[in-house]
Amino acid sequence: MERGLILLVAALVVYVSPSVDGTAHLSFSNDTQVNITRTGCGVNKLCVETPKDCDPTGKSSCLFASVVTSDPMPPNGTELSIELRGDSSGYIALGLTANATEGTTMLFICAQNNSDSGRFFFRTMQRNNTDDALTATETTVKEIRGMVNGSVIKCEFKVPNVNASNTRSSHAITFSVLLGTGPVVGNVPGKFNVSLDSGPLALSNPASNIPTTAAPSVNTTMPSVNTTMPNSAGAVQPHAVLLLLSVLTLSVMLRA
Ligand SMILES: *[C@@H]1O[C@H](CO)[C@@H](O)[C@H](O)[C@H]1NC(C)=O
Ligand SMILES: *[C@@H]1O[C@H](CO)[C@@H](O)[C@H](O)[C@H]1NC(C)=O
Ligand SMILES: *[C@@H]1O[C@H](CO)[C@@H](O)[C@H](O)[C@H]1NC(C)=O
Ligand SMILES: *[C@@H]1O[C@H](CO)[C@@H](O)[C@H](O)[C@H]1NC(C)=O
Ligand SMILES: *[C@@H]1O[C@H](CO)[C@@H](O)[C@H](O)[C@H]1NC(C)=O
Ligand SMILES: *[C@@H]1O[C@H](CO)[C@@H](O)[C@H](O)[C@H]1NC(C)=O
Ligand SMILES: *[C@@H]1O[C@H](CO)[C@@H](O)[C@H](O)[C@H]1NC(C)=O
Ligand SMILES: *[C@@H]1O[C@H](CO)[C@@H](O)[C@H](O)[C@H]1NC(C)=O
Ligand SMILES: *[C@@H]1O[C@H](CO)[C@@H](O)[C@H](O)[C@H]1NC(C)=O
Repeated sequence: MERGLILLVAALVVYVSPSVDGTAHLSFSNDTQVNITRTGCGVNKLCVETPKDCDPTGKSSCLFASVVTSDPMPPNGTELSIELRGDSSGYIALGLTANATEGTTMLFICAQNNSDSGRFFFRTMQRNNTDDALTATETTVKEIRGMVNGSVIKCEFKVPNVNASNTRSSHAITFSVLLGTGPVVGNVPGKFNVSLDSGPLALSNPASNIPTTAAPSVNTTMPSVNTTMPNSAGAVQPHAVLLLLSVLTLSVMLRA
């Protein structure tokens, strides 16, 4: 009896994405394991997080993402493998943009459904960086896994066709990575509140946001804490970077 109740409570509190078919442009992994750690940060994967150096496996609040790129496989673009972990009663999201104050951001949203005991769902949206408006888009995303435990949302997914064109080094994929949270209002993700703007980063370099110790302009006696633009030294041309992702309508639910 008690055991049954505990199992019921656990079932209400914890939802793990099951084997589910999405739309033609979204697909989910069978694997229910969502194991996000700092292992490999700066070496095998590019990590961004706030607060700085927070532990995605820990108990305290930590908005964390990692990105791994694969080499482009023509005619397809580069594939990004993304891990995202954060705390929200609505959604957490990772955004890719050329410039967070102009143009648009492609948002990848991992959310919980408060009308359904926190069931995980996934969305892609385009954010207008000028007026913060969000519009539903459908970007091909695959191998999506997600789980919600109370206010902690964890997800992993792959974006197979990210093209950066009009750059001289065509495999250099440079974006500002935005991390943030937002509410889910009546099934729809609300305003994206940016907690971290990485500034322009070369996504294929796991160490691109790690300052080089030899940098001559760094005064090591000064605390250099600037969470909004930690990599302002990166030499980039954001206007030359285009995010070519398919834009279609998207709406996907998972079944428990
Ligand atoms: C995913 O689930 C399907 C149907 O349940 C099964 O046939 C397939 O082997 C599973 N794949 C993996 C990688 O577990
Ligand atoms: C999670 O990943 C880490 C590092 O890859 C590994 O050491 C650990 O055993 C994994 N935990 C689970 C539960 O799979
Ligand atoms: C390119 O993408 C398409 C559609 O996702 C896929 O069927 C094809 O195998 C990919 N080609 C390469 C070389 O990865
Ligand atoms: C990616 O770029 C290649 C070469 O520039 C192009 O042929 C292909 O159609 C692009 N893919 C997408 C999804 O835009
Ligand atoms: C982003 O755009 C703003 C104005 O829209 C501009 O002032 C700023 O220099 C741009 N940032 C970068 C890194 O290009
Ligand atoms: C973004 O919003 C501004 C102000 O509402 C508008 O002028 C602009 O056309 C929008 N951009 C896009 C890409 O929708
Ligand atoms: C959910 O979070 C609670 C409290 O942090 C923890 O004890 C429990 O093991 C978590 N459940 C899962 C399935 O991770
Ligand atoms: C949330 O759950 C409710 C009740 O099951 C359902 O009607 C609604 O479509 C779900 N919303 C999303 C975004 O999954
Ligand atoms: C936005 O996020 C910041 C933390 O990054 C938080 O202090 C602030 O209250 C949030 N604003 C809203 C409207 O949620």
